[in-house]
Amino acid sequence: MKIVHTVNDLRAVVKSAKKAQKCVGLVPTMGFLHEGHLSLMTAAKKNTDFVVVSLFVNPTQFGPNEDLESYPRNFEKDAILCENAGVDVLFNPSVDEMYGPDYSTYVNCEGDITKVLCGASRPIHFKGVTSVVSKLFNIVSPEKAFFGQKDAQQVAVIEKMVRELNFDIEIVPCPIVRESDGLALSSRNTYLSESERKDALVLVQSLRLAEQKIKAGERNAELIKQAMKALIETVDYAEIDYVEIVEATTLKSVQKLEGDMLIALAVKLGRPRLIDNIRLWV
Ligand code: PAJ
Repeated sequence: MKIVHTVNDLRAVVKSAKKAQKCVGLVPTMGFLHEGHLSLMTAAKKNTDFVVVSLFVNPTQFGPNEDLESYPRNFEKDAILCENAGVDVLFNPSVDEMYGPDYSTYVNCEGDITKVLCGASRPIHFKGVTSVVSKLFNIVSPEKAFFGQKDAQQVAVIEKMVRELNFDIEIVPCPIVRESDGLALSSRNTYLSESERKDALVLVQSLRLAEQKIKAGERNAELIKQAMKALIETVDYAEIDYVEIVEATTLKSVQKLEGDMLIALAVKLGRPRLIDNIRLWV
């Protein structure tokens, strides 16, 4: 596996892969890799011939009071995990390489899709995500790019950006990877204390409760959300950011469940704010 730190070096490596007729896959990450990230690399290995992983803690997607400085990092371990996953190139640029002095060009999806759910409490987040992902798309020009359904809103926003800006790239959404007890894997789970880690199961339990209610015939979004919130609130220090039921591609809120539905939540549990979701056809 090659490790490159500059845009020019990455371009050169990708160019020779393309010359050899290889189909290029990109997996963007912020590192501190876990099985969720590795599942994207496995999907990329299966679906493309040349896998590029980017590892860059992107400052522009963190708000002023968020965890940019303390975001967990372990480059040496991540590099070994990528190597073992059969990654061809690991791109690890500096902040200066990605955003040189006087940097001022951004890609921003202005629709409601970036204002709801996580966008409501993280107003600049998706602008940072679409900007850095556009830069990576321009640097690598992959045929396919792999994203986790764990960040369902991120997938929806990137798919919209790709459609609207005519990127010739297939977005491949990959399923959420969970611990054996159901907790969705996240780099931020490392912030949880032992007891918070146990309490965090209430998130997936509330999604399962919603699923059960829907299977039993419930279609009223408000009633389902109320039941989910009541379950989450059994953890007395849980601070609910949102519990929402929306149409899965537009993220428009629904009153009555019908069609492709996304049930999504964000809850602050002690230090970390955790997100989770399920998508289901009703
Ligand atoms: P990061 O949080 O590191 O996630 C990188 C990719 O891994 C994302 O596509 C995310 O959805 C996926 N992922 C994380 N946890 C997962 C899980 N439990 N199951 C499946 N996939 C999972 O998302 C970002 O970084 C950044 O916003 C990025 C796209 C790299 C832009 O900076």
